[in-house]
Amino acid sequence: MKKIISGLFLLVITVLFGCTSPTQKVYLFIYDMDDPYIAALANEIVRVGKDYYPIEIHDAQNSQILQNERIEEVLKIKPRLIIINPVDRLGAYPIIEKAKAVGVPIIFINREPLARDLDLYDQSYYVGALAEQSGILQAELVAELFGNNPVSLNEFDRNNDNIIQMIIMKGEQGHQDAELRTEFIVSELERRGFALEVLTTEIANWNTLIAKNRAMVILPSLQDRVEVIVSNNDAMAIGVIQAMIDLGIFTDENENQMVDKDDDFWIPVIGIDGIEEATNYMRSGHLYATVLNDAIGQAYATISLARFLLDGIALETVGLELTNQRYVWVDYKKYTLTED
Ligand code: GAL
Repeated sequence: MKKIISGLFLLVITVLFGCTSPTQKVYLFIYDMDDPYIAALANEIVRVGKDYYPIEIHDAQNSQILQNERIEEVLKIKPRLIIINPVDRLGAYPIIEKAKAVGVPIIFINREPLARDLDLYDQSYYVGALAEQSGILQAELVAELFGNNPVSLNEFDRNNDNIIQMIIMKGEQGHQDAELRTEFIVSELERRGFALEVLTTEIANWNTLIAKNRAMVILPSLQDRVEVIVSNNDAMAIGVIQAMIDLGIFTDENENQMVDKDDDFWIPVIGIDGIEEATNYMRSGHLYATVLNDAIGQAYATISLARFLLDGIALETVGLELTNQRYVWVDYKKYTLTED
């Protein structure tokens, strides 16, 4: 009886003071909160999820060792669910094995584990976007920019050779998004009949500062030839833009800090993600366009999947489609401000 009374007392305290036992929480492991797209995605997951579950974020600060330690600690308390944005997608195997041993479901996000690793455990899932789709949409934006007619490019073909001279800024080597975006921007333009010359592909690990430093080195010798700069993400596109501003490549005839497309000289830069800072650079005219990597859509998909797994809410009710029983794909979209 005493036990029941103290149990009830605890329950009342929990309800009254909103304390949540660790086992009731959902734990969100993030590879690096300094990555602006990832920070936006993590914050959206917490925002969308807060109506259903208390969510605790763990930032691995780009260390797989730190992330593994944290996951091991959390698995000891057998939480309801862990959501993981792995530091190294190839490092998912031991995590899956450990979660399976204690029967805790896992939703991976953004960095896609190998299918053979996911297949080890029937309670492991992936929510993300198809990387090749972003490469194809970026190629569409380039095709539109050059007038959509591969046999006769428009005025953006500055040297009139009917070949698109391009610089590619590449994200982290081995990341599915970096590899496939880089592959598909080229293959899709070629499939549409465009002739391309990739002047250089620079690896800048998704990072603004690294991209800016690389651009400061390569642009002085390439600025007269390059006709478009495509970047695997917005953060690196912004680094290139900052380098072009510092190098005085964008002209600003009326000194309004904007690129006036008809009067100023500018080189088109195209990103992927649609982060807030990118929207600002689009407004000022420095960023031509981007491809939306839908953080809000992915957050809703992640939380809907959690509700299906934890509360048995039907997939149709939450509007979710599971591919091969474990994947939820969220579409990319082209994102420009041309209608403004
Ligand atoms: C990509 C995103 C990049 C970077 C990366 C991290 O989907 O486009 O900006 O955040 O994920 O894994």
